[in-house]
Amino acid sequence: MFPDGVGAGGAGRRRACLLSLLLVGLWGPVACRRSPVEDICTAKPRDIPVNPMCIYRSPEKKAPEEEGSHQKVPEATNRRVWELSKANSRFATAFYQHLADSKHYNDNIFLSPLSISTAFAMTKLGACDNTLKELMEVFKFDTISEKTSDQVHFFFAKLNCRLYRKANKSSELVSANRLFGDKSLTFNETYQDISELVYGAKLQPLDFKGNAESSRMTINQWVSNKTEGRITDVIPQDAINEFTVLVLVNTIYFKGLWKSKFSPENTRKEPFYKADGESCSASMMYQEGRFRYRSVAEGTQVLELPFKGDDITMVLILPKPEKSLAKVEQELTAEVLEEWLDSLTETLLTVHMPHFRIEDSFSVKEMLQDMGLLDLFSPDKSKLPGIVAGGRDDLYVSDAYHKAFLEVNEEGSEAAASTVGVIAGRSLNPNRVTFKASRPFLVLIREAALNTIIFMGRVANPCVN
Ligand SMILES: *[C@@H]1O[C@H](CO)[C@@H](O)[C@H](O)[C@H]1NC(C)=O
Ligand SMILES: *[C@@H]1O[C@H](CO)[C@@H](O)[C@H](O)[C@H]1NC(C)=O
Ligand SMILES: *[C@@H]1O[C@H](CO)[C@@H](O)[C@H](O)[C@H]1NC(C)=O
Repeated sequence: MFPDGVGAGGAGRRRACLLSLLLVGLWGPVACRRSPVEDICTAKPRDIPVNPMCIYRSPEKKAPEEEGSHQKVPEATNRRVWELSKANSRFATAFYQHLADSKHYNDNIFLSPLSISTAFAMTKLGACDNTLKELMEVFKFDTISEKTSDQVHFFFAKLNCRLYRKANKSSELVSANRLFGDKSLTFNETYQDISELVYGAKLQPLDFKGNAESSRMTINQWVSNKTEGRITDVIPQDAINEFTVLVLVNTIYFKGLWKSKFSPENTRKEPFYKADGESCSASMMYQEGRFRYRSVAEGTQVLELPFKGDDITMVLILPKPEKSLAKVEQELTAEVLEEWLDSLTETLLTVHMPHFRIEDSFSVKEMLQDMGLLDLFSPDKSKLPGIVAGGRDDLYVSDAYHKAFLEVNEEGSEAAASTVGVIAGRSLNPNRVTFKASRPFLVLIREAALNTIIFMGRVANPCVN
């Protein structure tokens, strides 16, 4: 249901490519069936019942969005999709902080929190009891109205329709999901139907028990294919064995052209000052133009650079030299971020930013356990009765892998530059606002209208690769 390469604006050379993927191996002891798939992008909740097996109700907390919602929902947006997007942003910033804490300050970070939320929402569909409660809490689905959280799968599908089915887009954002299940098991048909309808994740039977290694290669190949060869070998050797029953895969691939490109003749080698005080020689791109910008709390500069089509943008967050990026990371919540982004105004400024290429992978399981998602990964405590037919309860998630990649350079389409007041060449106008990313900064790639964080990362060292 998220057609590969839908509306792909493949013209022009690649300028920024990112992608990401996550997958989850479920343990325990899966038949294949086709479902009558309707178009969920045009459906109403009552048309398609996508009710999960169990429902979670928070005993005391009242979901904040339930009461008279003061905040304005963006135009042409379903309020529940918007609520879900907020929950995803809360998860994104919380997850990022845990990840940043676990990494050295000189390490680059890159991930797709949306991809992680999507893959785990696929497990929520079959989860009950405390396993469900922890999923609701860690992924922040309990911070939204009950109606939205009950129907979270339906609204995930709507969010995906909005993100991936742009009628007129010129950047390419593709997501693909798939379930790989051991051929000896019978999976619950309701689970498979909803998973296919909502997440576009068909089930493909594989022989994990008889031939783990070739199953692993099949999955890695599928992922590589869906990410245009950018992510290979996502499942490490020996990660699939005779106990694996189900592997959930989510991939996201993005390719965007700057609305206002950087001219290669303006790129210079310049020092980039890393957090440890050392510097390295980076290829610093340059342009002058009008962009949404603001200097926020304590001189942190926030700049938004749109990709062609304007719907997807890159946000750069650069603390002033005296403040460490780590400090900004610790203070960053979804609410702070939203406030900053809402405050940006069109500003004429000079932008200096390095080329960079980041590849990152880490254990999602470790981070999520650290955030309180425990039962899902526990052979004794996990409750996922909705996934396998007959409600067996020895199923658990044995591991989760995430791998993501981002490349940024000058390339873009000629036509794009004309829409912005672009002036080529490095002028030295002392009155002009300067945004110079020559020290560690944060980067977000988001859908601007809904403020959905698709990718998030830290550029601590652009000189690698
Ligand atoms: C598509 O984008 C082009 C250029 O931005 C614009 O002129 C055109 O009106 C758009 N078409 C639709 C259907 O939105
Ligand atoms: C990816 O899969 C599609 C459809 O199965 C196929 O046509 C294409 O050749 C594959 N591409 C690569 C690089 O394997
Ligand atoms: C499959 O799951 C649905 C609820 O999601 C449940 O009602 C049904 O009994 C399950 N089927 C089997 C064969 O376990």
